[in-house]
Amino acid sequence: MEQYIINGNKVLGGEIAVAGAKNQALKVLPAAILCQNPCLLKNVPEIEDVERMIELLTDLGAQITRKGKGEYEISTKEINKTKLKPELVKKLRASIMVAGPMLARFGEVTLAHPGGCIIGQRPIDLFIEGFQKLGAQMSEDGDIFTLRAEKLRGAEIILPRVSVTVTENLMMAATLAEGTTHIKNAAMEPEIVALAEFLNQQGSKIKGAGTPEILIEGVKELKGGEVKIIPDRIECGTFIMLGLITNGQIKITNCEPKHIENLLYSLDKAGAKLEIGQDYIVTHPSNLKGVDIVTHEYPGFPTDLQAPFTVLMTQVKGTSLIHETIFPGRLFYTDILNQMGANIIMCDPHRVVVTGPTKLYAKKLVSPDLRAGMALILAALVAEGSSIIENIYQINRGYENIVARLQKIGADIKQV
Ligand code: EPZ
Repeated sequence: MEQYIINGNKVLGGEIAVAGAKNQALKVLPAAILCQNPCLLKNVPEIEDVERMIELLTDLGAQITRKGKGEYEISTKEINKTKLKPELVKKLRASIMVAGPMLARFGEVTLAHPGGCIIGQRPIDLFIEGFQKLGAQMSEDGDIFTLRAEKLRGAEIILPRVSVTVTENLMMAATLAEGTTHIKNAAMEPEIVALAEFLNQQGSKIKGAGTPEILIEGVKELKGGEVKIIPDRIECGTFIMLGLITNGQIKITNCEPKHIENLLYSLDKAGAKLEIGQDYIVTHPSNLKGVDIVTHEYPGFPTDLQAPFTVLMTQVKGTSLIHETIFPGRLFYTDILNQMGANIIMCDPHRVVVTGPTKLYAKKLVSPDLRAGMALILAALVAEGSSIIENIYQINRGYENIVARLQKIGADIKQV
């Protein structure tokens, strides 16, 4: 079982470039199913989740060629089956993103309930409800389900709660439906805006992406073209907190500060000294104090930055209330931080209070999910001694070449 060995308590410094956004790449790849002609994707992060999505689409018959670093050409006219391989679906929660495009293009898709992170039960009721509103019929056989639709018809869809991938899935399905679809209470993430821009360049008619109401006027077909994946805002935010927690001067490049305004607000309140440029951010040693956060759908504080922020709060003076409102089960990693010496009290499954600063000591760690796994790397980088992190597949799912990139800024980390 591969693991990371990290010797902590080093001041880091240097430059680190942000990779392409995982949570856009995992939607644009399936979006190519809607397109008649090949698509060329640039700045794609070379991470495990993208590999799994490529395997899934290739298994369906899509032709995907790596043209260079982060560059992939995908042609989907060769797709010759509509049943997704269950073992591939189980490895990737985002495999559900194939459902909408397959339904729109081929009128049928069969998949197992997707797996992925174990951050609480990951239901798919809103996906099914949305597809049924668009005219699909669902049949189930155990945890395998099939969606069928002669032709999707535009509908008004009110989402009872904001969901990023439900919004994206229904938006993609609606591009080829007959008539107009109106999604209300849509998610507003930058990756959704980028996906809509890509689809509109291929001929779709989407209005309102990035607002709570999205209107999609169905069209006959979509062309196929080029797209550059936007910077990964979660990587960007994580690297800023890496610089602050190790008291280093780190320049984070190829990033989009506009996409992490809520994090920057909280870090500013904590007293962080940051230089913010057009497409870069520099961290400087700062005397930080505790700050409360509440995670919220975009443009609120991103749930995917909650874990690194909590680790940072263990090293600053004062107390901070961390309120995780999106996912149940996304705070259990704090128990591991307490075993390293942190002082974190869980008030209820959605709220913890952190009191700092506390010295952290190295430990043998297992990364529970993608984002908590990265947060444990931050903790190990400031801890006294040599930590071991297992189950590093979880981390490699979302952070490209992370060991080499951290070594480049002075981290004493190696993969064995
Ligand atoms: C997306 O997940 C991201 N994943 C997540 O990033 C991110 O944490 C999340 O949005 C919130 O920002 C991708 O884009 C691939 P949701 P998603 O549907 O869409 C409930 C990472 O680490 N829900 O917005 O799956 C759900 O249980 C990942 O990169 C239903 O109840 O999240 C959650 O409580 C983790 N029924 C809430 O909605 C449904 O049918 C919001 O989740 C679907 C979701």
